[in-house]
Amino acid sequence: MGKPRYIRLADMLSNAIQDGKLAPGTKLPTHRAFAEQFKVALATATRAYGELERRGLIVGEAGRGTFVRDLALPPALGVRQIANDDLIDLVFNMPGDAADADKLRSGLRRLAASGDLEAMLRYQPHGGRRHERRIIAESLSPTLGQVDPESLLVTSGGQHGLAILALGLFRRGERIALDTLTYPGFKSIAALQGLELVPVDGKGGVMDPEDLQRQCRERKVRCVYLMPTVHNPLGSVMNEETRLRLIEVARENDLLIIEDAAYAFLEPDPPASLLSLAPERTFHVGSFSKNLATGLRLGYVIAPALYTDRLLEAIRATTWNAPALISGLATGWIEDGTLASSQMARRRDGAERQKLCHSVLNRSAILSHRNAGFAWLPLEKGARAEPVVSRLKEHGILASSAEPFATTVAVPQALRLAFGGIPMHELEGVFQLVREVIEGVPHAAGMLE
Ligand SMILES: Cc1ncc(COP(=O)(O)O)c(C=O)c1O
Repeated sequence: MGKPRYIRLADMLSNAIQDGKLAPGTKLPTHRAFAEQFKVALATATRAYGELERRGLIVGEAGRGTFVRDLALPPALGVRQIANDDLIDLVFNMPGDAADADKLRSGLRRLAASGDLEAMLRYQPHGGRRHERRIIAESLSPTLGQVDPESLLVTSGGQHGLAILALGLFRRGERIALDTLTYPGFKSIAALQGLELVPVDGKGGVMDPEDLQRQCRERKVRCVYLMPTVHNPLGSVMNEETRLRLIEVARENDLLIIEDAAYAFLEPDPPASLLSLAPERTFHVGSFSKNLATGLRLGYVIAPALYTDRLLEAIRATTWNAPALISGLATGWIEDGTLASSQMARRRDGAERQKLCHSVLNRSAILSHRNAGFAWLPLEKGARAEPVVSRLKEHGILASSAEPFATTVAVPQALRLAFGGIPMHELEGVFQLVREVIEGVPHAAGMLE
């Protein structure tokens, strides 16, 4: 027996979408128009659209119609991408974009109504538009203290912020101290720039200042890269005492400090920032990816005055300026309170996910921040992460081992789970599956109680 008519219609549209003949964002005909075009009953057209929606290929928007989805994108919150291979992705950290299509539409409308719109079509100052630097700087004052807008350079994302530091401050072969587990994006910049990494011991994502001191005694280190408030991947928040001691060591050895604050907003009550404690040597990197939307590609670097010219040169050499259209949109969202409510929503969402993670996996060894959409699961001694990762993949779950995060030759045996983008109603089942897989792999289960 052949396939039902509605499946054949869905397959036909599916092919056109997968081949790119129907581009992302294309508006599809109404069910009625589709039914007339293909001479089928209205119910058949509706079922075909339902099937395409189930496959994750199209999306219906209330009052607007049905549109082709962008299949090249990683899944976003609540919309698991099942079109490609039906895998649940716990590798890529997609916090789910808090700014949704409606916010984008109204933000764009507000921009469209603003005066001197043409200014956005021109090259901008390398460090960003002055009034926007002021808006961003003022929004940071509750956590960072007073920030001079002149010291804040707008970048095309946090990753770009780190890249201009690497380009503007360091020469090939210079040494950067960092945690033994760190943000992989920093490792890739360092590798491209030919920087030598100096792993420093610590505990649970908090660097040991005395080991940094030892490393600096043995060789010339130029800079230390840290995520003191909500470490990626371990979620830790460094206490003030350790911050002060690290700064003492940095001053004694004349180290520059990079303070990466991409996830800092998840901590509602952070200790004093390294920037506020050591403004003469700290480069504070921020981003609007995790608290607003990853696709914006907007961030900033706050730098000591002595270095801003070099960094402006690095922005000039890479992007010239961050797009004014984007900085205009984001600063609009700062001013109308969208950013603040989005940060609060992210924290609440992360907290709910963490609770579920801890209750299902039920293990005290889990390292995470209580509001984060990711967690670190050390495996028991003697266990290897690789078979767990492969077994998870057989069950349709992509998870990462410690390898991408490690800066040491000996890689700890652990799993990193990023679950901020998994639809909430699927999360418990996903954690249960992870637990079952770990329990089924010899030696790995010791972590579960
Ligand atoms: C610790 C850390 N820093 C910086 C970034 C870069 O963020 P973006 O370039 O999206 O602003 C990320 C992204 O995952 C991150 O986890």
